[in-house]
Amino acid sequence: MIYAEILAGGKGTRMGNVSMPKQYLPLSNKPVIVHTVEKFILNARFEKIFVACPKEWMNHTEDILKKYISDDRVLVIEGGSDRNETIMNGIRFVEKNYGLNDDDVLVTHDAVRPFLTHRIIEENIDAVLEYGTVDTVIPATDTIVESSNHDFITDIPVRDHMYQGQTPQSFNMQMIMKHYNDLSDEKKAILTDACKICLLAGEKVSLVKGEIFNIKITTPYDLQVAGAIVQERINND
Ligand code: CTP
Repeated sequence: MIYAEILAGGKGTRMGNVSMPKQYLPLSNKPVIVHTVEKFILNARFEKIFVACPKEWMNHTEDILKKYISDDRVLVIEGGSDRNETIMNGIRFVEKNYGLNDDDVLVTHDAVRPFLTHRIIEENIDAVLEYGTVDTVIPATDTIVESSNHDFITDIPVRDHMYQGQTPQSFNMQMIMKHYNDLSDEKKAILTDACKICLLAGEKVSLVKGEIFNIKITTPYDLQVAGAIVQERINND
């Protein structure tokens, strides 16, 4: 089975002093998260589409999804204490309610990246079915400078080898669950990127090409940029 999980379990602290987590803030005429879920319901290959959010926001999430989305594959579930725990909650939900099979895959996506495309979703599904782990990336345009001591440069990697990570990230569910469960609590705290967990466990992580406009809304500036992208699309329609 092919499942999707929209990761909306965060509190959006870098967005500053706003009344609700950034995934619920309005973008043009509807909440950010609605734009994102709308992209997923267009894909008929998903068996279920989970929306994982903080426990105290579950009712609100159900209300807004009821208002804007009409698709009974969409289910609100509880997020976790960090992003990886939110992903694992999706897998645990499947295990408990539908049973977990060898070939079950999960396409995970940040709720706050509302501009992903049908192509990106399709390519994630195809690649995860073939390779088991997928990251979505764009080539780095800036030179990446590494400083492990935060005062002086320790490395300047070849830009041609550098990419910026986006989402979706997609996984064979049994595989990532096993590698995650094998980690110590200390390792879990450090390995905040789910693809890195698979990489360090020796899995091959395949790449899907993202889009420069598949931005993550992290700061108030990003929300302004997102507003401009939506407005431009409205003007061009
Ligand atoms: N996320 C999640 N569960 C968590 C933490 C984060 O599902 N426990 C999700 C966020 O809701 C977001 C995505 O992961 O859609 C990307 O994370 P980020 O931008 O860091 O979101 P926040 O953790 O909400 O933001 P901040 O780091 O500014 O607090």
